[in-house]
Amino acid sequence: MDIFEAIEQDHQEIRHLIHRLRGVEEEDRTQQEKVFEELKALLLHHHEAEERTFFHALLDNRDARHEGMHALQEHGEHKKVLEQMGDMRPGSDNWWDRFGELEHDILHHLEEEEEDIFPLARKVFSSQEARALGTRIGQVKGGLSAHG
Ligand SMILES: [Fe+2]
Ligand SMILES: [Fe+2]
Repeated sequence: MDIFEAIEQDHQEIRHLIHRLRGVEEEDRTQQEKVFEELKALLLHHHEAEERTFFHALLDNRDARHEGMHALQEHGEHKKVLEQMGDMRPGSDNWWDRFGELEHDILHHLEEEEEDIFPLARKVFSSQEARALGTRIGQVKGGLSAHG
């Protein structure tokens, strides 16, 4: 699996979890919290692994640096919102409002990576490099989940 396939696979999982969270019964706050925690862990691991592999390699390239920095800034914003949500009561109106904004930002971010950054990165990485980075992101993610 190359880096593009690996990232896309994560993105699909993230989209799937957002969809699952939206589908939880309105009254079932325990389940809402559970799916949210799953989404939070996946998202944080994905961002971290992506930063340490894909973006780390990409930022060396002058033509891709600007887009790359923009994506990293968005990772930081997602983290901030996730922290804020940690202080709210899961399933409350405030919590859902905040989640709605986060959902919008995340979906936009994933799309931007796939539609804008991937084409740039395909020019920067040889297919051999893309495969090596694909292996590397798998290792980094494995290490992150092993430590929570
Ligand atoms: Fe990202
Ligand atoms: Fe991503």
